[in-house]
Order: sequence, then structure tokens, then C-alpha cells
Amino acid sequence: FGKMVVIFGASNIFWMVFAASQAFKIETSPESRTLAQIGDSISLTCSTIGCESPTFSWRTQIDSPLNGKVRNEGTKSTLTMDPVSFENEHSYLCTATCGSEKLEKEIQVEIYSFPKDPEIHFSGPLEVGKQVTVRCFIPDVYPFDRLEMDLLKGDYLMKNQDFLEDTDKKSLETKSLEETFTPVKEDTGKTLVCRAKLHIDKTDSAPKERETIEELQVYISPKNTVISVHPSTRLQEGDSVTMTCSSEGLPTPEIFWNKKLDKENLQLLSGNETLTLIAMRVEDSGTYVCEGVNTIGRSRKEVELIVEEKSFTVDIFPGPQVAAQIGDSVVLTCRVTGCESPSFSWRTQIDSPLSGKVRSEGMESMLTLSPVGFENEHSYLCTVTCGRRKLEKRIRVDLYSFPRDPEIEMSGLLVNGNPITVSCKVPNVYPFDHLEIELLNGETTLMNKHFLDKMDKKSLETKSLEITFIPTTEDTGKVLVCRAKLHTGEMESEPKQRQSTQTLYVNVAPKETTVLVSPSSILEEGSSVNMTCFSDGFPTPMILWSRQLSNGDLQQLSENTTLTLISTTVEDSGIYVCEGINQAGISRKEVELIIQVAPKDIQLTVFPSESVKEGDTVIISCTCGNVPETWIILKKKAETGDTVLKSIDGAYTIRKVQLEDAGVYECESKNEVGSQLRSLTLDVKGRDNDKDYFSPELLVLYCASSLIIPAIGMIIYFARKANMKGSYSLVEAQKSKV
Ligand SMILES: *[C@@H]1O[C@H](CO)[C@@H](O)[C@H](O)[C@H]1NC(C)=O
Ligand SMILES: *[C@@H]1O[C@H](CO)[C@@H](O)[C@H](O)[C@H]1NC(C)=O
Ligand SMILES: *[C@@H]1O[C@H](CO)[C@@H](O)[C@H](O)[C@H]1NC(C)=O
Repeated sequence: FGKMVVIFGASNIFWMVFAASQAFKIETSPESRTLAQIGDSISLTCSTIGCESPTFSWRTQIDSPLNGKVRNEGTKSTLTMDPVSFENEHSYLCTATCGSEKLEKEIQVEIYSFPKDPEIHFSGPLEVGKQVTVRCFIPDVYPFDRLEMDLLKGDYLMKNQDFLEDTDKKSLETKSLEETFTPVKEDTGKTLVCRAKLHIDKTDSAPKERETIEELQVYISPKNTVISVHPSTRLQEGDSVTMTCSSEGLPTPEIFWNKKLDKENLQLLSGNETLTLIAMRVEDSGTYVCEGVNTIGRSRKEVELIVEEKSFTVDIFPGPQVAAQIGDSVVLTCRVTGCESPSFSWRTQIDSPLSGKVRSEGMESMLTLSPVGFENEHSYLCTVTCGRRKLEKRIRVDLYSFPRDPEIEMSGLLVNGNPITVSCKVPNVYPFDHLEIELLNGETTLMNKHFLDKMDKKSLETKSLEITFIPTTEDTGKVLVCRAKLHTGEMESEPKQRQSTQTLYVNVAPKETTVLVSPSSILEEGSSVNMTCFSDGFPTPMILWSRQLSNGDLQQLSENTTLTLISTTVEDSGIYVCEGINQAGISRKEVELIIQVAPKDIQLTVFPSESVKEGDTVIISCTCGNVPETWIILKKKAETGDTVLKSIDGAYTIRKVQLEDAGVYECESKNEVGSQLRSLTLDVKGRDNDKDYFSPELLVLYCASSLIIPAIGMIIYFARKANMKGSYSLVEAQKSKV
């Protein structure tokens, strides 16, 4: 109803024309003006009062087509425009005729279009610090010269715009407002308001208004993507690794872990920040990519993981080389680290039999060579297989034999001045081409030899070194050293060494053996004698007293220095031998002991009697008993002087005795101890007798002692001295002594 009041003033001209004359009246609805939106439907109604059957006609003021449908019904006519379009923007005139009366009424139809709320568009995502253009547009607006648009961020009016440009034609237009700004983090949560106002009615204070509100969401593209790797990017097979990735952004970026397959392709592994890889293998090496992703962007970081084959090592014991003594037991041990289940195999380098026992257990394998022999002198190889990998270690077994200390041998007894050969013998040695023997006197090397002769076969040999020298007594006490060195194995700097020592004792053969006889070597029967023997030598000679028997043999008596004979008898006479004896020799000294008795029991006899006849044969005989070394002298006494008679064994034979042979005969038995005399008187009775031309000369008789052979020499001496003539025979004399 209010509108009718407003419209009233605009059409009062027609009203004034007919109002006074007729009760016939015309009315319209809306009264004079209406506002219609394009696409809507409006109806203009024209009705009359005071006429039973009015006729109606509709036209536009500029006489263009109606663009609507008219329906007349009694006193009412309706013009319906459906849909409303630009063609309907007119002043419509309704003419009602009642008989001759005609009434007209005008309704102005104004149109507009403002169908939708504004739309807000951003040139891109709202990223902190990055310029963005916000565009607010409002579609299908008419008439846009009445449009006003505001853009507000929170309470702040960013832009206001009117669209006042002239329009040539009627059309629906889309109008927009643009503003560029740089978002800050604090913009998040603020509202962005796009408000459009269409000022259609000049009179209307309140324009048509539409607005769209959008809450701002500001983003930060992922950045500062950081990877931390624990424990390391360098790993060993079987290890585990944990990689953590972080990325900053708004909204908080999602993290994705990938593995780079090639240049372009990635394999997604996890959507977690933390990526743990366990029991890694070599194939797991590669580039791992962490991506922080949020709605507006992504940020990548790469890390390179290297998985190495687990360092699996093999050690061989006792070393790369082992020097083993023949006959000993040697254990070669092959030990593995870094492999779960290794498998072992042993062989020799020349592929000969192992000649040993293998025992493998866990991480170790042992090859026992017991006893070690020549067949074991090889390089042994221990091969360890761990999975697909294989390692080989080598150990060389060098043999040696050096079981005993050297033996020092002398060619004989060490005697002062006698050349001697000393040999140093190293038995059962191998390899002898590595042997060195050295002979030392104390610290002074006498001789040294390296046995470099080629070995044609493996065998145990005995090697020796010889030296000949002439020892002197000064050498006694010196130490002879025989040192053998076996240079085994190149690895061993120190050679194996054995040595023997021998202290020298230079013997001196007994010499200057002397005997002291106390009181004398010629004794009276019954007295005592001490015979003391001395002998020089080294070692001090042993003294041995013996007595020489008649056959030349020696009868041992004493080992004492002094041989004492108490109350000697004639039988003790003889040759006593003292021997000084040591290892180096014997020195002997003889001494003759003479036990003497005074002559006794001399018997002087005549045969056939003391009274004989001229011409008889007479034998005068003198015997001296059993006293040795007694001289017997047979004499014929006379006033002119005594005549010593030549006798045989004390017997003097007078063939055809003469008168002058009668007289006193005397026999004297004599030695150093004493003498004894016997005499007799021979009586010759006369016959006619021839004279005997025998002229007696000196004759010495020796009264033999069977025990003392050397006395022969004395007999010869005495015999010669006596200028002996006649029948004395050495042979005869000897016989008589026995
Ligand atoms: C990420 O890790 C957590 C615990 O660390 C776990 O519960 C979750 O299942 C993981 N998610 C993925 C996708 O692996
Ligand atoms: C022999 O030696 C002993 C002991 O020295 C001594 O008593 C004795 O008188 C000695 N005899 C003679 C005959 O010299
Ligand atoms: C050697 O001398 C000792 C005493 O000095 C004496 O007892 C021993 O009988 C002597 N031996 C001989 C065989 O004369």
C-alpha cells in the first residue's frame, strides 16, 4: 500500500482528465511503478470501477511489443511477464474503455539483475610473504552503473569501487574487484568480506546488498626439511638405521619417505616422520628422499645410505708362518669374525693330502698336525665361506729339527802338547742349510761354519764342525763352547740356538818319577826300608809300587807313595818298580834293593882226602852257602906269597898231584857285610911225579844269587877286570845261579 502513495504523483494528468466527468475509474496494481528482477515473473493488473464491461488494451509508451501475456477477465486485465527480461523495461499503459469513456493508467516497470552472492577468487594459495591477488566478482549484474563493491579484510576496507561507466546496451555483466596483497601469518582466521551493493532505487535508502565472507587461511609452503640419521649413513649389512625427517610449514607438512628407484621414480616407504630400516642389506644402499608436503607445496631432502658388506675377517694362527719341530704337535687355527655361520675348508697349496685332522666348531677351525713330519711342510690354505663371500688365508708350516744340544767330542785325552781334534756335533738337524755351528774358546770364536750345502732331499742329518789344536796347560780352566744356531723361518729374527760347554782340563803325563830309598838300597838283612816315590803330572799321578818277578812280570804291592819293608830278608832283594799313573800316561822308575848277609857256613873240602899219593887227582872245593854277592877266593898259602887258584864253581882240580902241591889251602868268602875264612892242609906222599905246569892266576868267583839277574853285568865286569883266562863261562855261571 505504501507504494501506491509514492506512484500517485506520477500519473495525475490522466486522472485529472477523467476524474471530473465520470464515476468510471481505472486502477492498476502496482499503482505506477514496479521493480522486477530479470528472470522473475511479474503481473501488472488493471481494473475498473463504474463500468459493467470495460475493454482493456495494453501498450508500451514507446509502442514496442508488450513481451507479456494479457488476460482480460471482467473488470480486470492482467499483463503477465514471465520471465522478466530487458524487453520489459518500459512504462506500460493500460487503457480501459467503457462505452465512450476511455481511461488510461501507466505503470513503469523497472528491471534489475543481482542474482548471486559475490564470488571470491584468489590468484593462488595464500602463502605467507607471497603476493596474492584476490578477485571478487559478482555475476549477471544489471544495471551495473548502480553497483558498488567493497573488499574488507577483517575491519579494514581494502578496496571500494563504483562502476559508473555508461552503458550502450542493456546486458547482464559480471563485475569484479581486484586487490593484491601480501599475506602475513596473522591473517589466518581473519575474514575476507566481499560486499556488493546495487543502488537501484534513487529514493530507496537501502540498496540491494549481497556479500560473501571467507575466512582466510594462510599457508606456509614446506621448508627447512631436515633429516637426521642414526647411527650413520654408512652402515654394515645387518645393521638397522633410523631416519627422522622434519619439515616446517603451515599447515604442518605431512612427511613421506621414499626411496629413489631411478631418476624419476620413487618408491613410497612410509608416511611417518621416522623411518626405521632393520636388517639392512647391500641392496638397500641408495638415495632416500624425505618429502614434507602440505596443501601448497612440498619440500624435499635426500640422504644417501651406504650399506657395506659386513666386514667378515679371517685370521690364521699362530701366524702367516709357523716353525714346527718335527715330531711335535702343531695346531693351525683359522678364526672368523663377522660371519654367522661360516664354513671352512683346508687344503695345501700344492693340493697334496692334508696329513692332519680338521675340527671345525663355530667360528674356528683347527687343523692338527701331530706329529709334524716332512709331509706337513707346506703352505696350508684355510678357505672360509660366509654366504656368497669367500676369504682365504694362508699359513706356511716350516719344519725344523733341532732336538738336542750339540755334542762336544774330543779325539782323545787332552794332553799337554798333543794335538787334539775337537768336534762339535749337532744331531738330527733339519734344515741343515740353515745351520750355523760356532766353536768358541770362552767368548773368542775359534771357528764358525754355515752349512750352506744344497739339500736334495728332506732328511734329518747330523752335522759337525772339527778343529784341531795343541793344548797347553794354560788352557786348563778355559771353557769350550759349541753353539749351534738354526735359522728357522724368515719371520723369526732370532735363530733357534743350542749350546754345550766343556771346561778344559789339559792333562800332563806323569814325568820325573823319582824314588827316595831310606836309608839305602843296600841293606843288611833284618833292617827296615822306606821307599818313597814321587811323580809329576796332571792330574796328580797315582803311585803304584810293584815288584818285578824273575819272569819279568810285575807283582803289585801298594798304591801308597811310600813302600815300607820291615825287617827284610834276603828274599826281599830284587827290583822294585814305582809307576806314576794318570790318564795321560805312565812314568816308571826302578830301584834295586839289595839285602845282604855276611858269608857263613863256608865249607872247604878235599877229595878224595887230605892225604893223597903223588899222581892222584885231587879236587879242592869251597862252597859259600846260600849267601848272594859273596866273593870266593881260593888260595894256596906260601911263604913267598899266596897263590890264588883258578877254580870252577869254587872247585879246584889238581890232576896228578905233586909233592909241592902239599900245603895249606885257604878259602875266603867275602862281601860288603863281612868275610869268612876256611883252610885245610893237603898232604902228598911221595912217588915219582911230573911237575904240573899250571900256574894259578887270580880267580874271582861269584857266589850267585838266583834272584838278581842284573848281577850278570857285574860278573862280566869283574871277569874282565880280572883279565880272566881259562874255563870260566858266563853260561855256566848263569846256570849255577839258578
Ligand atoms: C607411524 O609411527 C607410529 C608410532 O611411531 C605408528 O603407530 C604408526 O602406525 C606409524 N604409521 C605408519 C603409516 O607407519
Ligand atoms: C820309615 O818311615 C816311617 C814313617 O815315616 C818311620 O817311622 C821309620 O823310621 C822309617 N824307617 C826307616 C828305616 O827310615
Ligand atoms: C797304605 O798306607 C796306609 C796308611 O798310610 C796303611 O794303612 C795301608 O796298609 C797301606 N797300604 C799298603 C798296601 O801298604
